[in-house]
Amino acid sequence: MLKLWIVGASGQIGSAINEVLDPLEMEVFNTDKEELDITDTDEVLNFGVINRPDVIINCAAVTDTDFCEKEPELAYRVNALGARNLSIVARKTGAKMVQISTDDVFDGIRHTPYTEFDDTNPKTVYGRSKRAGENYVKEFTHKHFILRSNWVYGNGNNFVNRVLHAADTKDELLIASDQFGSPTSAKDLARIILYLIKTNEYGTYHATCQGVCNRYEFAQEVLKLAGKRITLRPVVTSESDLSSARPAYAVLDNFILRIINVYEMPDWRASLKEYMDERTED
Ligand SMILES: NC(=O)c1ccc[n+]([C@@H]2O[C@H](COP(=O)([O-])OP(=O)(O)OC[C@H]3O[C@@H](n4cnc5c(N)ncnc54)[C@H](OP(=O)(O)O)[C@@H]3O)[C@@H](O)[C@H]2O)c1
Repeated sequence: MLKLWIVGASGQIGSAINEVLDPLEMEVFNTDKEELDITDTDEVLNFGVINRPDVIINCAAVTDTDFCEKEPELAYRVNALGARNLSIVARKTGAKMVQISTDDVFDGIRHTPYTEFDDTNPKTVYGRSKRAGENYVKEFTHKHFILRSNWVYGNGNNFVNRVLHAADTKDELLIASDQFGSPTSAKDLARIILYLIKTNEYGTYHATCQGVCNRYEFAQEVLKLAGKRITLRPVVTSESDLSSARPAYAVLDNFILRIINVYEMPDWRASLKEYMDERTED
């Protein structure tokens, strides 16, 4: 039986992995901040050495980009040094290491999708701390999968749930039409993680659902699938209701997945439909 350690297990992606995995096939250790703070180097090392997982999946992070700008030390401590601590354990125990990363490692000023071979150039504290986390993983482990994703929604605070909440509380919503990305369900990200960990295809991957839209189109699709009505107005990011410090063009090309032809991510609209069909009201 494969032993998995899911770190940040209560978050959107951590809980989606738990939902998707087959418990008959895997033994799972779930930890989150309450049980084990990944910034505590000795505790992390002890846990790893005692439990000896085959795979460590790091879903823990400070993900609020605006909060990271205000608290850069915390952002680096968790997103960079936390990833370092887990990588040290992975190296010591021979475990495979999965690090979830983000389009925010790019500057987002281009108008064509970024591949894994493009140079990173993060513009925010969140993006810089996540890039530092990637670098630690590369430095300390050989058997790693770094998956960069984009506009992830699952069980938690995300754009889909904020739009749905606004639809119940407001008459009109101003949404950025100048931010582009590929909405990706946490469940679809979980599925590719569980696929990759059984392979030896190590390295950095872009893993987003197929297709591109702007935030306004994303919100339109959410409301359509939910059967909710509200006036939506396309505006620039600075005037929008649900904006934060994000790259304008957050589009990742799943280039390596395509050229090695091992796994195809679903279309973002189909993925969103699955999420909305399964979603229960808060
Ligand atoms: N969401 C997206 O759009 C997106 C896109 C691309 C990549 N990612 C990456 O995917 C990963 C998971 O994202 P997510 O959306 O699942 O985030 P999430 O829902 O915010 O989950 C992150 C989890 O990490 C925990 N955590 C924070 N600090 C910790 C610490 N010091 N020690 C242990 N656990 C800690 C959080 O606990 P608390 O809630 O108690 O703080 C939370 O349960 C992150 O690495 C993120 O950078 C996310």
